[in-house]
Amino acid sequence: MKILFIGDIVGKNGRETVERNLAGLKKKYQIDFVIANGENVTHGKGIIYNHYKNLLKTGVDCITLGNHYDSKSEIKDYIDGATSIIRPYNLEKEFPGTGTVLYKGDQYSIRVTNLLGRAFMEEKVKNPFDCLKEILEHEERADIHIVDFHAEATGEKQCMGWAFDGQVSAVLGTHTHVQTRDARILPNGTAFMSDVGMVGAYNGILGDKKEAVINRVWHDLPGRFEVDDRDDSVLSAVVLDIDPETGRAQDIIPVYLLEKK
Ligand SMILES: [Fe+2]
Ligand SMILES: [Fe+2]
Repeated sequence: MKILFIGDIVGKNGRETVERNLAGLKKKYQIDFVIANGENVTHGKGIIYNHYKNLLKTGVDCITLGNHYDSKSEIKDYIDGATSIIRPYNLEKEFPGTGTVLYKGDQYSIRVTNLLGRAFMEEKVKNPFDCLKEILEHEERADIHIVDFHAEATGEKQCMGWAFDGQVSAVLGTHTHVQTRDARILPNGTAFMSDVGMVGAYNGILGDKKEAVINRVWHDLPGRFEVDDRDDSVLSAVVLDIDPETGRAQDIIPVYLLEKK
């Protein structure tokens, strides 16, 4: 079973880049199921209902989130009725929606879980390792289980991969918006990558226009971060080939497309 996992989609630039490329990628890699991280879909923070629906129309099957899960407040009103969007499982506060979903296909089932890391992250969350253990012990077993671990620190992400090697099909990192070169299959069959990367403006900083970010980081000046819609684009993703009989990964192929405008 071939799964395409797309990193954080940032703003209009990211949405349009997905629209331009998704059908081609699905065909090229014979993709059966598409997961995308959608925490930055609407103007770089959060995701509104219309953008959620449009991503599904474009061909995404399941959207995961991250620390910006509630940056657009309307998500509270639609997430409970939306079957294809998953917010972080380990939130401390009460929030609608769910953090792990089982998709039942004709032949095989796929579970997708979204967890937030704790190192260098502002959101106070429950222990993500305990939470994944809890899901494995108490939720219905799936043939394939993909974990989007939305976290800042590579070490914390490596801990998640090694701690659950052989118990889930893949641990894929998101959040840093920069694709790492460490895609691999761990000894017991779990596909691992510290960060899948992002989809959006190529010449900015993590998808935002660079000037405002430099002003903030260098000079401590306030300013709004904005997505550059007209910039060149990058599409970062990863293709997983999972044997549904065993749940083990057979291949992991990073995807990194640049589009000049
Ligand atoms: Fe992000
Ligand atoms: Fe994030």
